[in-house]
Amino acid sequence: MAAQPLIIDCDPGVDDAIALFLALASTEDLDVLGITTVAGNVPLPLTQYNARRIVHLAGRTDVPVFAGCPRPMLCPPVTAEHVHGTTGLDGAILPEPTAPLQAQHAVAFLINQLTQASTPITLATLGPLTNLAVALVQCPDIAQGINRVVMMGGAMGLGNVTPSAEFNLYADPHAARVVVEAGLDLTMVGLEVTHQVVTTPERLAALAAIDTPVGRVATDLLRHYGQLDADRYGLAGSPLHDPCVIAYLLQPDLFTGRPIHLAIETDSPLCLGRTVVNPYPNADQPANATGLETAAADGIYQLLTERLAKL
Ligand code: BDR
Ligand code: CA
Repeated sequence: MAAQPLIIDCDPGVDDAIALFLALASTEDLDVLGITTVAGNVPLPLTQYNARRIVHLAGRTDVPVFAGCPRPMLCPPVTAEHVHGTTGLDGAILPEPTAPLQAQHAVAFLINQLTQASTPITLATLGPLTNLAVALVQCPDIAQGINRVVMMGGAMGLGNVTPSAEFNLYADPHAARVVVEAGLDLTMVGLEVTHQVVTTPERLAALAAIDTPVGRVATDLLRHYGQLDADRYGLAGSPLHDPCVIAYLLQPDLFTGRPIHLAIETDSPLCLGRTVVNPYPNADQPANATGLETAAADGIYQLLTERLAKL
């Protein structure tokens, strides 16, 4: 089978970085057409720079990196340095990138690719949805060029940045609403799923055993990442959110899910950015997304370890 064309929209971010490594290593399955970056975990100048550092370390400077929106549509910017460090990739030493940032804006790249695609393109969204929402507002026809959107964001019931909302959708709830209401084939990889995929000492040791530059950076990053969440939720390790999106594209049988009706709260101060999920869609609230429910963590870490060893 031909590799599926993919654009990754992200805000690296430690778990974004691991997701990028996984995708960039999977050349037989994924044809990564470009990486678009957005303000999120850290400001845009850092997310685009971090994406280029990852691409460089992975030896994939053939994959262009674009900078997109520097702020959310309406809300003030929110960042997560307390999780990812002030650089966004604290804990590891990464090389300076040699490939320049693309001159084209990420939104223009998305519109260009999606309106000219001969094969519809899959979108993996790992950060706030500002770039995709702006592209949909500017050019609704891009929907025809989208095969599917697999989004890390939201939750069936949990929150992380607030008790009611997950970071990516809280950071730009209006963008999330535009995307959810666009009638796309949408899969939500929410917190209940990513909290099943945690970096235990044994899994970290398997990654460390790769002992290559990429393996060492991935291990260093993960060693410093996510203890806050592990403590708060009583998990055996830190949740590996964004790589679940790529793992799902590579091996969907590692996950289960169900049709859901998904809506985004954009008004209530207490519930801003909440994914309001009806797991029992009906005539009034028909299914408009797939909500993933379970993830086979051992299989996902095995896939990750095998693929990262190829870089
Ligand atoms: C999401 O928020 C970010 O901090 C992570 O990179 C991930 O995309 C988890 O809520
Ligand atoms: Ca992210």
